[in-house]
Amino acid sequence: MSKSVPHGGKLVNRINTNLEIDYSLNDIELDALELSDLELIANGGYSPLEGFMGKADYVSVVNRMRLANGLPWSIPITLAVSPEKRSEISIGEVLNLTKDGVIYGTILIEEIYVPNRSLEAEMVYRTTETEHPGVKKLYDRSEFYIGGPITLVRRPEKDQFEDYYLDPLQTRKTFEELGWKTVVGFQTRNPVHRAHEYIQKTALETVDGLFLNPLVGETKSDDIPSDIRMKSYEVLLKNYYPKNRVFLSVFPAAMRYAGPREAIFHALVRKNFGCTHFIVGRDHAGVGNYYGTYDAQKIFSHFTEEELGIKPMFFEHSFYCKKCENMASEKTCPHDKQDHVILSGTKVRGMLKKGQQPPKEFSRPEVVEILIKGMQEVYIKN
Ligand code: ADX
Repeated sequence: MSKSVPHGGKLVNRINTNLEIDYSLNDIELDALELSDLELIANGGYSPLEGFMGKADYVSVVNRMRLANGLPWSIPITLAVSPEKRSEISIGEVLNLTKDGVIYGTILIEEIYVPNRSLEAEMVYRTTETEHPGVKKLYDRSEFYIGGPITLVRRPEKDQFEDYYLDPLQTRKTFEELGWKTVVGFQTRNPVHRAHEYIQKTALETVDGLFLNPLVGETKSDDIPSDIRMKSYEVLLKNYYPKNRVFLSVFPAAMRYAGPREAIFHALVRKNFGCTHFIVGRDHAGVGNYYGTYDAQKIFSHFTEEELGIKPMFFEHSFYCKKCENMASEKTCPHDKQDHVILSGTKVRGMLKKGQQPPKEFSRPEVVEILIKGMQEVYIKN
């Protein structure tokens, strides 16, 4: 696989910041997830989607992980409206899409429909339990969805890491300028620890470049905030990665915690950003015990490599082994579990909050320093 073609053949562009805003239109208030989806539809990150899904695409994605036209797509991208709002709007109308009163886009309403949310939960999240953060969010939404093409008229505000927000067109151009023919994408919602670094660098042994693409949209409250993570990525890259082989920019989407389904989605979107390969390790986009360790790898067998257009690179659970004195996995290490340095995310976050350093075999000291400082500031603030 040496060329990355956008999903569906061409990169969508539905950004028009010169469009004159019509303040007289009815509006819909988006939540953070919907606003990030709006931007990613508009900048082509979600190509071939040109708007929020209508019923045919929604039903098809929920039931068979494909758009109505057969293209692989695993996560419904939908817009919910309250029953009150639903009674005010009708098909054919254009609405303003707002967040906190600011107009970011418009939608032409082509459809208004009632989703089957319990089926959506069961199929997409593999559970209907509301302890699952994605399911909870789904059930908290209204029972009406609207579908239709969107236009982004204003870019959502960026944080202090503005330079790291690049559209697919820009990342594609960057990879070309760097001369990379093969690029492996890496999704993360966490700081990059030694196991992440190990699988990234192992992948990098066989491709031209690594696209470190941390998700910085909405995450659950106990995940490490993205501004702290960004500083940790910078220091890690500076100290431990070859400059011309890695490129960092952010993925502004929200986490769904849909595990296997989200792995497919993450891969397709990274294809749109110009990747030819995509890393899927253990429990990708998982939460709690909802998914088996390698379910997010197994799900790729539902599709051919040709129809996905991006090659997944699978990695086993990796760790530092004290006897090997190396990073390793069950595939490469013969020693017992007690020789392996393995810490859960919850345990690490707890240590960081208390100012305790996870071992250097787990996380680079420069990264730990930034995380401790950042987590303590958050802790003091709250
Ligand atoms: S995720 O929700 O964004 O997937 P995380 O940031 O922890 O969570 O993982 C980023 C990527 O690294 C995923 O592909 C995940 O499967 C992989 N990964 C995380 N930890 C390990 C590990 N110890 N061994 C192998 N793969 C891992």
